[in-house]
Amino acid sequence: MDLGIRGRVAVVTASSKGIGKAVAKAFLEEGAKVVICSRNKENLLKAEEELKRVGGELHKVEVDLGKKEDIEKLKEETLKEFGTIDILFLNAGGPKPGGFFDVDEGDWEHVFKVNLMSAIRLIKTFIDEMKKKKWGRIIALTSVTVKQPIRNLILSNSIRLGITGFMKTLSLDLAPYNITVNCVAPGYTMTERVKELLEDEAKRTGKSFEEVLREKNKSFPMKRMADPEEIASVVVFLASEKASYITGQTVTVDGGMSLCYF
Ligand SMILES: NC(=O)c1ccc[n+]([C@@H]2O[C@H](COP(=O)([O-])OP(=O)(O)OC[C@H]3O[C@@H](n4cnc5c(N)ncnc54)[C@H](OP(=O)(O)O)[C@@H]3O)[C@@H](O)[C@H]2O)c1
Repeated sequence: MDLGIRGRVAVVTASSKGIGKAVAKAFLEEGAKVVICSRNKENLLKAEEELKRVGGELHKVEVDLGKKEDIEKLKEETLKEFGTIDILFLNAGGPKPGGFFDVDEGDWEHVFKVNLMSAIRLIKTFIDEMKKKKWGRIIALTSVTVKQPIRNLILSNSIRLGITGFMKTLSLDLAPYNITVNCVAPGYTMTERVKELLEDEAKRTGKSFEEVLREKNKSFPMKRMADPEEIASVVVFLASEKASYITGQTVTVDGGMSLCYF
């Protein structure tokens, strides 16, 4: 199936690793021009090296999503390199784990700034380009926690619903401009971050990494976690020409993990 996004310009945030990097790769494979960004120069260089093997046009920018001036820089560099933007994929790192008694006011402010405010700023910064041409796709990465909270993830459980409410409302404002606005909510996905969390659990419990992973996998209906590519393909479909009448939705990609009907 031709997804019809060859030559489109996609900005993929928090993309030096994990799901963001897989999304960048999937866009390159579809022939889109891709801008990747993250805070760490070395991580970005490594990602660039890997993604260049796919071919296509790729540009990288050092960006801390918590900083307004960095988001401005991302726009300037994107326009300088590719002249426009068509697709915005909103992703950020974290949030840190913990329950109510484990997080302080600084953690709440940080998660607001990096995970929600960055999305608002990115859209404000790029939206005129999409409005002008009456074509755009905005997709935010949330989490299965929008359907069912996960214990010990109070920051994620809270902020993801804020993002979902924001995106749903925004979809109404942007529909007349032919700009679609959707969320993708992954379940457990085998990224470097999840590997590190499992390694940490293995150390703490004296078990092997494989043992911890086996035990975790048992709890999922498909008896495994997602590969980042399985999240990326849904993102790319939502960004495609074929998904032109899908807006204001959350697509859950959790292997059946959330026990709810919708
Ligand atoms: N993996 C899962 O099971 C899962 C499930 C549901 C939801 N999620 C959510 O999906 C998102 C990505 O998860 P992941 O597993 O792909 O994580 P990951 O492998 O740790 O990747 C996180 C990416 O975010 C970048 N980043 C972090 N903070 C940033 C900032 N302030 N500004 C710019 N870039 C930043 C990191 O790059 P630098 O370090 O180079 O900045 C890295 O490229 C997270 O919000 C996570 O909570 C993950």
